[in-house]
Amino acid sequence: MTKVAVLGYGTVGSGVYEVLKKNRDVICSKLGDEIQVRYVLDLREFEGDPVQEVLVHDIDVIINDPEIAVVCETMGGEHPAYEFTKRALESGKSVCTSNKELVEKHGPELIQIAKAHNCSYLFEASVGGGIPIIRPLRTSLAQEEILSITGILNGTTNYILTKMETEGLAFETVLARAQEKGYAEKNPDADVLGFDACRKIAILTSLAYGKKVNFEDITTEGITAITDVDFAYAKKMGATIKLFAKSVKKGDRHYALVAPFLVGQDNPLYAVNGVFNAILVNCNMGGETMYYGKGAGKLATASAVVADVLDCARHIGKHLDIRWEDTKLEISPIDGAVRRFFVRVSTTDRAQIEKVFGEVEMLPGVADGECGFVTEEMTEAQYREKAEAFGGVLSMIRVD
Ligand code: HSE
Repeated sequence: MTKVAVLGYGTVGSGVYEVLKKNRDVICSKLGDEIQVRYVLDLREFEGDPVQEVLVHDIDVIINDPEIAVVCETMGGEHPAYEFTKRALESGKSVCTSNKELVEKHGPELIQIAKAHNCSYLFEASVGGGIPIIRPLRTSLAQEEILSITGILNGTTNYILTKMETEGLAFETVLARAQEKGYAEKNPDADVLGFDACRKIAILTSLAYGKKVNFEDITTEGITAITDVDFAYAKKMGATIKLFAKSVKKGDRHYALVAPFLVGQDNPLYAVNGVFNAILVNCNMGGETMYYGKGAGKLATASAVVADVLDCARHIGKHLDIRWEDTKLEISPIDGAVRRFFVRVSTTDRAQIEKVFGEVEMLPGVADGECGFVTEEMTEAQYREKAEAFGGVLSMIRVD
């Protein structure tokens, strides 16, 4: 029997408890061993909940119990999750987490501590909720050179963009409704400004290349400037608008960007709607693979934590290695990244537009006194220069 402790009985922690309880027989038959939740750590009491029988309030009880082999850290935040994780690993207990903040900030260090103590630090649930993406990058795609990763990594923004598209509503209206229904946070900044997706693509890029990507190095734009007029143009092009978190390797250079993109129907990510997430990975040998599912939510995220628990239970006393050095992966400024741009300007004079932007694909105006067009391929720096020279640019969305 493998004995585990769960740190934090919030949404994900209570989900872990539920998955282990409800799927006890399935897990037992697949693992050939039983997993028992010996402790749940939380400061609160949960009167009437069976968890009360295993509830403890002191981390020392868990750290000092030599029978605990695996700890699920589902507290979130940096402190005291960092200290508790370190202590568990130093005691030879593997840690499985959903805590993307901790993974992004301290991943390489915690992996090294796990290695030194013959245990593991696993974090499948930290990116893409219930979608298996960390394990594929670590194992199934380990033989591949990763050429690009493109993810819809934030459910809140994907839900908002989907609603804007299907119901023709403004960003603010959809956000307010999503907040009323509890789909969006009261303070939605981390989601709508792209920071959540940024941390997630930083983790995926770090794993793809084995070095540390600082999320501050990734140019990040959210969806707050996207309007119903943008969607009207997108519809005319048979396209949609998605918040992409992108990481691309071009020769020796790495580019990363979180921003809204105009996405055509030929892109597999076009059909990813609502709160769903998906990640498209392009490799030099096997080509494209895509991973799709619930990027958040109690049971989906908990299920991913439990997958890691099973992996640890199969490898007690061994370190499951994740190559992630503490040396920095240089992310090149996006100035050099080449792509096409969808631009809206406050004129309909094609000659004036083409004088500055070169040959463009014109789109009939969907609003008075303006038009939209798609440029030929150019670098980000070239686009910026042209947009400054032209003046009067109403909006720009990158084309994938
Ligand atoms: N707030 C995130 C999202 C979920 O909307 O996808 C947790 O990462």
